[in-house]
Amino acid sequence: MSNNFLIYGANGYTGELIVRFAVECGMKPILAGRNAEKVEALAKQYNLNFRVFALEETEKLDAALREVSFVLHCAGPFSITSELMVKACLRTGRHYLDITGEISVFEQMASLNTQAKDAGIMIMSGVGFDVVPSDCLANHLKNRLPSATNLTLAFYGLGRISHGTQATMTMNLGKGGAIRRNGEITSVPAGWKTREIDFGEVKKLGVTIPWGDVSTAYHSTKIPNIEVYTIVPKPQIKLLKLSRYLGWLLATKPLQNFLQSKIPAGGPSDEERANGKTLLWGEASDDTGNRVEARQQGVEGYTMTALTALKISEKILGGNFCTGFQTPAKCYSADLILEIEGTTRQDVS
Ligand SMILES: NC(=O)c1ccc[n+]([C@@H]2O[C@H](COP(=O)([O-])OP(=O)(O)OC[C@H]3O[C@@H](n4cnc5c(N)ncnc54)[C@H](OP(=O)(O)O)[C@@H]3O)[C@@H](O)[C@H]2O)c1
Repeated sequence: MSNNFLIYGANGYTGELIVRFAVECGMKPILAGRNAEKVEALAKQYNLNFRVFALEETEKLDAALREVSFVLHCAGPFSITSELMVKACLRTGRHYLDITGEISVFEQMASLNTQAKDAGIMIMSGVGFDVVPSDCLANHLKNRLPSATNLTLAFYGLGRISHGTQATMTMNLGKGGAIRRNGEITSVPAGWKTREIDFGEVKKLGVTIPWGDVSTAYHSTKIPNIEVYTIVPKPQIKLLKLSRYLGWLLATKPLQNFLQSKIPAGGPSDEERANGKTLLWGEASDDTGNRVEARQQGVEGYTMTALTALKISEKILGGNFCTGFQTPAKCYSADLILEIEGTTRQDVS
């Protein structure tokens, strides 16, 4: 096994960005994906080795994993692609990283904790913007208030979203929202609650969304009640609420196929990423009235995803990993995010 890693889905928008950043910092990952033409062209552009296979081609998948110590899986929606990849990692004893934000995927990975420990591997989903910055903020708040029973997180991403993110969101349209209540993931209507969020430099109306932390922040902090808010324009909040009644229609195959076909390829340009940023806010409280609050600022979401995914990759290459199912802050601490250039954090109360 070489001390290297595989990037699967390397030719997607986020995969390509990660490849570019990896090469810029001297890494030489092996690229992989199912589209021979695109993967080969990308590998040639950066003078990297590549492998071409679909996830169903088990022998090729296992052989590619045996050449490396871990995979950074970038081919989503992960509710479709993650199972075949993580099973191959368990078979071959290689660590598994992905950039999902899907609650069902995090929960499936958590259910593999014992198998991962037995195989001596780390399974860490969500090594991108969802959930590294928010998992670190959640753990920072928990460290400040160990008796916390309620956690509220919010984020504001200033920038455009990519093809894969839109495809994943479209696939989940009409499925409603989710929060954590008394330790259980609980379904709530889409756009369930709104509240004003004070990010410091700007105050905005936030709306609840089923973000990855509903799963992961519980695994890393054990806080039993969790809500996550994001900022969307007011008309979109109305649309979210409307989707409660149109859920059945939005999930039908013909409409899904139509909506998916309308999603433009690619994602934010270099200039858009350079001009974007991400703002986070979080609050933890306990049953006796204690309360702590903090804010965090960082680079644009896709830049953040590439930087956090590669920071964690660098740690594994250096032999720094924790076996079993892990969240970023659980293994690498709440201060992991402060290792990402451009990140700042303040305690408000
Ligand atoms: N957590 C975060 O913060 C974060 C940040 C960025 C992206 N994401 C997620 O990452 C995923 C990728 O986003 P993106 O914008 O980079 O997407 P994209 O540009 O659409 O690229 C998707 C990539 O996945 C591959 N792929 C899709 N389905 C596949 C399958 N069934 N088998 C094998 N390969 C498959 C595609 O291969 P082909 O070219 O062969 O179709 C392509 O390489 C999305 O799920 C998105 O939500 C999460």
